[in-house]
Amino acid sequence: MGLESVVLEALAHCLRPEGFLPEQANLFGAYPVNSRQHDNGSSREKLTCSMLRVEQEARDMSLLLPKELILNLQETIRKRYSRPHPVRQLLLSGRLTKEQLQGWAKNQFHEFRNIHRFFGIRYQKCPIPQLRRDLLENMVEEEGEDLFGGKYPSHAELWVRFAEGTGMAREEILSYEPLPGIRAALEMYVQLVQQSHWTVAIGTGLVFEGEGPKRMRAEREALEKYYSWIPSTALDFFRAHEYHDEGHGNMVIDVIQKYCMEEQLQEEMRAAVKTRTDIMWLQNESIYQTYVRPALSVEVVKEVEGRLE
Ligand SMILES: [Fe+2]
Repeated sequence: MGLESVVLEALAHCLRPEGFLPEQANLFGAYPVNSRQHDNGSSREKLTCSMLRVEQEARDMSLLLPKELILNLQETIRKRYSRPHPVRQLLLSGRLTKEQLQGWAKNQFHEFRNIHRFFGIRYQKCPIPQLRRDLLENMVEEEGEDLFGGKYPSHAELWVRFAEGTGMAREEILSYEPLPGIRAALEMYVQLVQQSHWTVAIGTGLVFEGEGPKRMRAEREALEKYYSWIPSTALDFFRAHEYHDEGHGNMVIDVIQKYCMEEQLQEEMRAAVKTRTDIMWLQNESIYQTYVRPALSVEVVKEVEGRLE
């Protein structure tokens, strides 16, 4: 039932001869009569008060419960695009050439070397002390858990080692100027996190971190299977995220379920996960149009895009 029909139905009850008390209004049809109180006071005032309450209750009805909200957001992400991006389809089925894989690696590096720009904002905005500790732990992992005796260096360094494993020199990776779409995508995401409510800023992690372990495992397995010329040690970036992102994904889900229980926030959250999904699509699309699509046959284009132009 939409907001408008709920309000109209409730108003119809409100105008019934027996009337009802605003405090006793029930949108599902039970309106007990209390004639003593009903007879007191201005009926016009009472009607206005009832209308406001009914509208508020109708709004509350569009609020999703915590678990419903997560399912709704995951569905929103899934439905945003009808199929995985062609770059991902080709990567996971072993059909990227070495040069295309290098194009993917050096452009994806732009986000991985700039993660502090949005992680830092999430941390700075968060008003909950325990959550800030979790976010700080997350940032330490990004900057290198070896800082406190852990196994891995920074994730940016792990990605450089992956990119080196695809056959590029470290200097080439570090000095590479990313494609315009890749640069725009990062700025879009930093701005999204900057402009969002703190809950939403963390919640946008549902798109990447939420899918993280599964995504990283699929990529590592495809790289091991189809691109076995890449040294196994170069795949630590994926191994580190298979392990860590599980915890991060859970934190993101907990934050959404606990702190995103207002209608306006839920709407903002839905819009933000759509934007984050678009940003990741834009990253892949930039790489695809530059390195991959020009080299594909018409048949493969049709297969991975589901269309022919
Ligand atoms: Fe990371």
